[in-house]
Amino acid sequence: MKVTYYGHSCFSVDVGGINLLFDPFITGNPAAEHIDISTIQADFILISHGHEDHILDVEAIAKRTGAKLISNYEIISWFKEKGIENGHGMNLGGAFAFDFGKVKYVNAVHSSSMPDGRYGGNPGGFVVTPTGSRTSFYYSGDTALTYDMKLIGETEEIEFALLPIGDNFTMGARDAVRCAELVGTHTIIGLHYNTFAPIKIDIAKTRQLFDETGKTLLLPEIGETIEV
Ligand code: NI
Ligand code: MN
Repeated sequence: MKVTYYGHSCFSVDVGGINLLFDPFITGNPAAEHIDISTIQADFILISHGHEDHILDVEAIAKRTGAKLISNYEIISWFKEKGIENGHGMNLGGAFAFDFGKVKYVNAVHSSSMPDGRYGGNPGGFVVTPTGSRTSFYYSGDTALTYDMKLIGETEEIEFALLPIGDNFTMGARDAVRCAELVGTHTIIGLHYNTFAPIKIDIAKTRQLFDETGKTLLLPEIGETIEV
């Protein structure tokens, strides 16, 4: 699968020619200033929770591309009031079969409010199982390590996981390794690090930590596309 990193927690995953964009926060990220959001393709935009560093560019990209939003019910309702009618609301524990594959909205231990202070529903993550595939991938969203992750590994075969490693607001690298063990994957794409001062990490030390546990940590450059 082709995965493109747009900085912070924003990734695009090409699932059989359908582009899934996760948590777009690009124009507010100085490290991503070389990314022109008017060039980003999106058929679906998946939103883990309401914080600004996950939704800032949703409106612009959705209005230009006509992408369908997938998130919790409250976030979909909030965007509807902004004129984005094309949305699919879910809630925790629920799965839905889209034409590209199945999406399950899974528990995240975090918070979720909209930039205007409105309630942003429960924060979540996504398990995506492409149509015809035996395996899935897991995008955790902002979350603490939680034993609920074990349930994901018990029911799905996770090929790779996109996990926060920046600590402070989410799990750090050590807990991301434990999360990977719970969901049963060896391949982790790191996110939610180095964007802000409290989530600055030592890349060399972080890589070493993953190496010691036999896990593969992928840290694509902003704008880079990798094959996973
Ligand atoms: Ni957050
Ligand atoms: Mn965040």
